[in-house]
Amino acid sequence: MDQHVIDEIIERNDIVDVINSYIPLKKTGSNFKARCPFHDEKTASFVVSPKKQIYKCFGCGKGGNVITYVQEFEKISFPEALRKLAARAGITVKQTMQSKGKDSKRDLIYKIYELTTGYFSKNLIEHGSSALEYLAERDIKDETTKKFKLGFALNSYGGLRNYLLKNDINEKILASTGLFTSNNNDLFRERIMFPIHSSAGKVVAFGGRKLHDSQSGGKYVNSPTTDIYTKGNELYGLFDTKYTISKKDQALICEGYTDFLRLYENGYTNCVASLGTSLTDSQISILRRFTENIYMLYDGDSSGRKAAVRAAGKILGKGCNVKIIGLPEEDDPDSYIRNNGATSMQDMIDIAKPLAEFLKDDEVIGVDKKGKLSVLFDILNEIEDEVAQELLIQDIAETYGLSGHAVASKIRKKRRTFNKESEVTEVLKTEQFREEREIILLIINTYQLKTFT
Ligand code: CTP
Ligand code: MN
Repeated sequence: MDQHVIDEIIERNDIVDVINSYIPLKKTGSNFKARCPFHDEKTASFVVSPKKQIYKCFGCGKGGNVITYVQEFEKISFPEALRKLAARAGITVKQTMQSKGKDSKRDLIYKIYELTTGYFSKNLIEHGSSALEYLAERDIKDETTKKFKLGFALNSYGGLRNYLLKNDINEKILASTGLFTSNNNDLFRERIMFPIHSSAGKVVAFGGRKLHDSQSGGKYVNSPTTDIYTKGNELYGLFDTKYTISKKDQALICEGYTDFLRLYENGYTNCVASLGTSLTDSQISILRRFTENIYMLYDGDSSGRKAAVRAAGKILGKGCNVKIIGLPEEDDPDSYIRNNGATSMQDMIDIAKPLAEFLKDDEVIGVDKKGKLSVLFDILNEIEDEVAQELLIQDIAETYGLSGHAVASKIRKKRRTFNKESEVTEVLKTEQFREEREIILLIINTYQLKTFT
């Protein structure tokens, strides 16, 4: 592609607008700031300069122009990023760039997942009458099925395998795709297939739900960890909802595929599903790139509520704001919306409570006041960030009518009994770190002045 076309693409895509469509930017002086989308951080060291049309992270060092941003963020190639930005600006480019060379193993596995997604979709349309009936019964719209690429795995041991071989996929790679059992059979059989997309939009795994209770195996069969997928690193739906989450500056986290789809269909498009009840630190870090305001929307039963409380503790520990939505004990978001209508979900969101208050008022988990306080103290002890800890101390103190001092003393006591040794080293570490931090700040400030004036 000619350099002048590339220049035009850069010129017609303002870097602030483009980056702001991925992550929320805050204006500071003549620049914009955000928490870096490329590494995990608590304070904003990612700076965008509208004047120079570049970005730079003073934490991890990543920097570049609008094209490299899209490339890095979406994890796509240079030509792909160019095409995307050209389309955004309404520029037509000739398809002269071809992805060249030998595909790496990861690229090949991505390709296999793409083919597999297509295969499952085709099955649903051509041979999936029972699955379509099931989806209709569950009130999942065709539009949703298409958008999230739901599919169907046939009741067959070799259907997918043969399809991939027919499509020139080398047999040798199949074992490392996670799509087959150790006997080389298809892993997913007679199941509704939910593709899990990475936040950049590539299918990297599947969850397969059984159609009938009588079928063998668990309710869901899930892809194992592979070269392109680490369990607990992805959030279902985020590839689509990240833009809304960022715009609304608020995210809802539910447990399952069906909860997500029901919420999405009813206009709650700032949602993700953690796929199970153990929200991981890594999932929180990814979500935090888009918003700091998180609502836990897990099932209303005891295990859902307990999991929501645990997750809320982790979210606070990462320096985000969290509220918990307490659904009735017999409901998950899917059934709640179906039984009560879309608008009553908004009422539930509006009355969501902070962690300490949620726990205090809870009557489902079944622990007494002492037990609740002990859960809160455990959470408090797991939070390393001092500001986050202080906020939770205040929250607990106010909610339970205790003095902040009494609550704070609780954690110190625990620390002393269990962790005397490490407490001393902690202090040493911070002393050591202070000096380092000052030097780093000095370098950053000098560099910042040079680059962004
Ligand atoms: N899950 C799983 N394996 C199971 C059960 C659950 O991986 N055996 C995960 C799935 O991601 C599921 C989520 O945990 O979506 C929530 O579980 P659950 O509430 O049991 O399922 P739902 O999504 O509500 O499914 P359905 O409404 O179809 O029963
Ligand atoms: Mn559920």
